[in-house]
Amino acid sequence: MGFDQYHEPAQELSEATRTFARMITSLTEEAEAIGWYEQRISVEKNKEAKAIMQNAQQEEMKHFGMDLEFLLRKKPEWRTILKAVLFTKGDIVEAATKGEEKVD
Ligand SMILES: [Fe+2]
Repeated sequence: MGFDQYHEPAQELSEATRTFARMITSLTEEAEAIGWYEQRISVEKNKEAKAIMQNAQQEEMKHFGMDLEFLLRKKPEWRTILKAVLFTKGDIVEAATKGEEKVD
């Protein structure tokens, strides 16, 4: 079992910080899985196998979303920024900039 998510001595970190680090690691792993499925799906010729992988990829996105929501509940300022970015139309960078301005 790896403990790579800690970059400081684990015993010096609070329980909340250790949980936060684990959730960041989980978020990263879900994002990697989404990317791996995207590549597998793009080359898979078998329709049934492809459908299963597409279903699995969607599950990974759900996991990613749950991890992200957990983290956003710990960081209200991140939620403020992402509220300006997610589920919007138009220029993404501009939306993010406006979101950041709401935090300052
Ligand atoms: Fe997952």
